Formats: sequence, structure tokens, C-alpha cells
Amino acid sequence: DWSMANFIELEMKKIREKVGDKQVLCALSGGVDSSVVAVLIHKAIGDQLTCMFVDHNLNRKGEVEQVMKTFTEDFDMKVIKIDARERFMNKLKGVSDPEKKRKIIGNEFIYVFDEESSKLKDMDFLAQGTLYTDIIESGTTTAQTIKSHHNVGGLPEDMRFELIEPLNTLFKDEVRALGLELGLPEEIVWRQPFPGPGLGIRVLGEVTEEKLEIVREADYILREEIKKAGLDRDIWQYFAVLPDIRSVGVMGDARTYDYAVGIRAVTSIDGMTSDWARIPWDVLEKISVRIVNEVKHVNRVLYDITSKPPATIEWE
Ligand code: XMP
Repeated sequence: DWSMANFIELEMKKIREKVGDKQVLCALSGGVDSSVVAVLIHKAIGDQLTCMFVDHNLNRKGEVEQVMKTFTEDFDMKVIKIDARERFMNKLKGVSDPEKKRKIIGNEFIYVFDEESSKLKDMDFLAQGTLYTDIIESGTTTAQTIKSHHNVGGLPEDMRFELIEPLNTLFKDEVRALGLELGLPEEIVWRQPFPGPGLGIRVLGEVTEEKLEIVREADYILREEIKKAGLDRDIWQYFAVLPDIRSVGVMGDARTYDYAVGIRAVTSIDGMTSDWARIPWDVLEKISVRIVNEVKHVNRVLYDITSKPPATIEWE
């Protein structure tokens, strides 16, 4: 009969048989699926697994550090961190069109992964966190095409590797249960959806270091206050965006001319439709006060009260 413990045993056996004494590479994004895949495979074959984490400078505050700590320290796994921050920033310079930014970020990820993985000798297998739903959605059983347009971590069909996709019979809730069973922390297992292009599409218009810093700090405060209020499990997604507008404010007796930060928080079942979350006003107030007080160059906070449709969850 089916149980999570049986599933793990069976999959570990399959992985060992398939891999033999060869090497496996896994692109870690910090998301639920790639994290669970990495830990499962590591449990099966230990140091025959190498993970690669590409820092594109578009992650939320503290995320890179948390991923590195969890996997290298807590799970004692081999993780190579690629510092591609400058590379991504250079590519994004002067680009403000959302679709162009998406393409640039997606392509650059593939180039970096390709370059860096070809430096590693003898990698035969590529592990991917493909879920059952990804396969259904793409209408095929080999799911490489899946998220390639959509997800950082979705890699092009690559002749150099044979794929390992141990989650491809599971649904999202089963993957979370598996993650908990494997000892992954709740922050990773219950991580809210985060778009592949990351903060690159939450800084509206051209992406600069200054704007990334603002949105990162505002987002961090938002996450802290939502968690403190005990709302983090009820809200599907909550994040800060930085529209490309500035407005007039006053601080002491001086006039300011600074950025407005947008707060987006939605309830949803699957991300296809959504409603704006009815966050209590006192929580919204705390978020607003903290953001204007603590984040430099912000003098105004907006709350997005649009559902999807007609708006989308993200602003770009
Ligand atoms: P939208 O903004 O289309 O978002 O209502 C629906 C869900 O998809 C996420 N999203 C993305 N995920 N790459 C991703 O991996 C993307 O380019 C992308 N754009 C949006 C969004 O965060 C929401 O959960």
C-alpha cells in the first residue's frame, strides 16, 4: 500500500539503479520542487549529486543565504553557488519592456547554467523537479518543454544529460508532504510561489540596483508583518512591487520626491484566478508605517485591490 515512507524507499532504489556509480547534477532554485528533488536524490546517492545555484541578483532578501545554509550545512550537500549578479544586471541595463526582461532573464539563466555545468566533468544525469501536473499541462510525458518558457530552472532539452524526474507522479501537496518527511524546513516546503524572473518583474521598468534594494527591503518588511499577524498560510502570495513613479511627500519640514511602493496580496486556489486579500487595516497600517520609515527613498505605500482577472497577480 502507498505511504510516503514506501514512496521514498522505492524512489531511492530506482534512483540508485538508474545512476549506478555516475554523477547527477541538479539546478537548485530554492523553490519547493527543486529542493525536494535535490534532497531525495541526495538521500539516495549522497555525494554523487552536485547542485548548482545561480545567484542572478533577483532573489528576495536573505534567500540566497538561506538556500546555501539549508543545503550545505543542514543537509551537508555539495552546492556550487554561481555569482552571476553582474552578468544579469548588465544584460538588463536599459531594458524596460516586461516580456523582453523575462526573455533576457530566462535565456541568461540557461547560458550561465550551460557554461558552468560544462566545466564540471562527468555529469551524466540532470535532476528536475517536474511534477505530474507539469506533464499534464504540457501534454507530453517527457516534460522538458514544461516550464522552460516560464521558470528559471526550466532548462532546454539538453543532449548532454539524461533526465531524472522522481516527482513526476506527484501533485504539489504530495511534494510538500514528501519535503516535510525528508526533513526540509517549513519555510521551503510552504514557500509561496515566486516567479522565475524574480524581482526582475517586480521592479517595473528598468531594473537597477537601487530599485532592487528598495523592493527587497519593502518586501522583507511585508513578509515579516504578514507572518507576525499569522496570515502567511491564508494568503496565496504577498509581495512588494516598485512602480516606476515618484510622488511628493513631506518629512520634517522638507519636501520629498520619492518612490511609491505597491503591496500585492492575493488569495487563490491555483494562480489562474485570484482575489485581493482582505488584510486587516491595522496590519496594513503597520506595513505602511514601517516601509516609509525604514526603506530609504519611499514616501508612499499603495495597496492593490484588483482581482484576477482583469489584473494579473504580478504587475508585469
Ligand atoms: P500572473 O501574474 O500571470 O501569475 O497572474 C500567475 C502565477 O504565476 C507566477 N508567475 C510566474 N512564474 N515565471 C514563473 O515561474 C514567470 O515568468 C511568471 N510570471 C508569473 C506568479 O507569481 C503567480 O503565482
